[in-house]
Amino acid sequence: MLKPDKITILGIESSCDETSASVCRGGRILSNIIANQSVHEKYGGVVPELASRAHIQNIVPVVDAALQAAKLSNNPQDSLKKIQAIAFTQAPGLIGSLLVGSQFAKSVALSLKIPLVGVHHMQAHVLANLIDDRRPSFPFLCLTVSGGHTQIVLCESPSVMKILGETIDDAAGEAFDKSAKMLGLPYPGGPLVDKYARQGNSKRFTFPEPQIPGLNFSFSGLKTSILYFLQEQKSKKQSFIQDNLPDICASIQERIVTILLNKLRNASVQTGIKDVCIAGGVSANSGLRKGFEQMGKNYNWNTFIPAFEYCTDNAAMIALTGYYKYMDNDLVDLSAGVTARAEW
Ligand code: KG4
Ligand code: ZN
Repeated sequence: MLKPDKITILGIESSCDETSASVCRGGRILSNIIANQSVHEKYGGVVPELASRAHIQNIVPVVDAALQAAKLSNNPQDSLKKIQAIAFTQAPGLIGSLLVGSQFAKSVALSLKIPLVGVHHMQAHVLANLIDDRRPSFPFLCLTVSGGHTQIVLCESPSVMKILGETIDDAAGEAFDKSAKMLGLPYPGGPLVDKYARQGNSKRFTFPEPQIPGLNFSFSGLKTSILYFLQEQKSKKQSFIQDNLPDICASIQERIVTILLNKLRNASVQTGIKDVCIAGGVSANSGLRKGFEQMGKNYNWNTFIPAFEYCTDNAAMIALTGYYKYMDNDLVDLSAGVTARAEW
């Protein structure tokens, strides 16, 4: 029986439009390779069928690169023999994309006669906060904000998590991307809103904060108010967006960030937990990072944000979650399916 610090997991992530592979040994990340898919840009959003095809093209070179970068053996041919289990994203995500990663993982596991671990993508986003040496202590709170989810999670251990609040309609990433689309920016618009917002005045325009009970979120009302605001301003001056883009972006970003952080503050006050993290693609947003650190100072939190490459979709978080699940003997067999939506 290998010691825990020698247990080596190959992780595969293919839930949306990033193909990624990572090697994790003893809970430490040895490699994390990510291939982005530029094919979707001209369609203004991820096209599921094109995403699956791109995963098929990418997966072998990406896994190969992750194994080589991990330097598991002097002889690259022997690298796979050093792996104890394969972890793959089982849910949620695009079915075709998930199938490519899961079928690949199953084939490798079958040929090497090693176990498989099915990983929930949102659990993995939360556990990305355990990759760095400086980590939160259990129990901690995590605001997970991605293109498909917005959740406040109470994390008691790597395997015990409770959702305290979540969006009742759009996710925070969607709010960024849909706002960007209304402004005529290309997909994915979130990072572009962030870029323009850095040069803008966030106090110039005011958008309403939704009054949603408890720790749940809603972004659909904000989306509608942005749409009406832009329509009205454009009817007065057609070039309104071009003339004011940085200020519009900064004002939209400010509202999305305050919606997120006000709920996170309430969650900390209610639970008394002061180790607080953010995770998911939107945690790459500079306004959210700055506002989060400032709130942390105001409320005496220990704040944690994963390194940039572990915020957006990546296989390192899948490999690490796979490591914890393997240690708990929480395995799946070759009949394991994938699902687009999954409760946890
Ligand atoms: O976690 P992620 O990579 O994929 C999902 O699981 O959805 O998150 C992608 C989302 C997209 O909506 C993207 O626009 C948003 O994260 N995003 C950002 C930034 N970087 C990524 N949103 C705002 N500012 C950013 N800098
Ligand atoms: Zn994600």
